[in-house]
Amino acid sequence: MTESILADHLGPLDGFHDDRRHSERSEFREAVLSGLGQAPKAVSCKYFYDEEGSRLFERICELPEYYPTRTELGILQAHAADMARAIGRDAALVEFGSGASVKVRILLDALVSPRAYIPVDISREHLLASASALAADYPALPVVPVCADYTAGFPLPEAAAGAAPVAFFPGSTIGNFDPGEARAFLGRVARLVGPGGGLLIGVDLKKDTAILHAAYNDSAGVTAAFNLNLLKRVNRELGGDFDLARFEHRAVYDPGKGRIEMHIASQETQTVRVDGHRFAFAAGETIHTENSYKYDIAGFHAFASEAGFEARNVWTDPAHLFSVHYLVAR
Ligand code: AVJ
Repeated sequence: MTESILADHLGPLDGFHDDRRHSERSEFREAVLSGLGQAPKAVSCKYFYDEEGSRLFERICELPEYYPTRTELGILQAHAADMARAIGRDAALVEFGSGASVKVRILLDALVSPRAYIPVDISREHLLASASALAADYPALPVVPVCADYTAGFPLPEAAAGAAPVAFFPGSTIGNFDPGEARAFLGRVARLVGPGGGLLIGVDLKKDTAILHAAYNDSAGVTAAFNLNLLKRVNRELGGDFDLARFEHRAVYDPGKGRIEMHIASQETQTVRVDGHRFAFAAGETIHTENSYKYDIAGFHAFASEAGFEARNVWTDPAHLFSVHYLVAR
């Protein structure tokens, strides 16, 4: 049954991969050439996640300093029954950027008669592998993977018809969006789930700067490797000649903007070539690679309200490091 659902929604596996890799490559190329050509230099954090980048991110999640992943898991474990009550029965759960679908299992175990699980992910291979594994563990649950860029908007599959759609967006990935983008994204989610539909979302909280600083400047250097891996990817996929020894990782909290900024800083004056184009770096000049916004609960509620959601519940850990919100679309 899972096989045919996968086949219906994803089409034949053969003959699709190369085209997609090709268009991904040219999108990456455009983004890097225009991002390095602008002042200040910037490349979107979405390009961190090639194979090695995804592996490094998984290692980040295990670091002692990186509290978000384990804190959110703890909140889900401690309050799953409450969350299931808030969501109600017969939910069609739609997860954005489902990755390995680990966190959702806690929720699925607590939900009363969930109707479907709809993981949405841009990475087809990971989506298929984790959807199949989850379907095997939940034989009574229709699992309907959707290979899509969830930021772009996509139609809900048939399996959600007649059920109450509830979106699940854990990990504080919302923190990567600038405030305007985040509001627009929440607005699209509100329209996707429709009036009465829900959103369960993980949001990292504002906190002591030292804790934030440690989380993005870990002592084992994994976050630095994750950030610099972007240059490796440029070298490998776009024929760049970045010398990684002449760049360094930088992550700083800007309290005014309420965000961690990650940058790759040039240690000296140098010129780098990418695909025949030359890019000059001054000593200390950076490529801005990521923003990770932190919210307080009232601020996030105001935000969600502007996007068409009503805040129903919020759960946090005892140290108030992280929050999980349940919102209902008006
Ligand atoms: C996946 C966006 C939630 O911002 O904390 C981790 C990515 N960057 N360490 C975050 C990240 C550096 C992460 N998010």
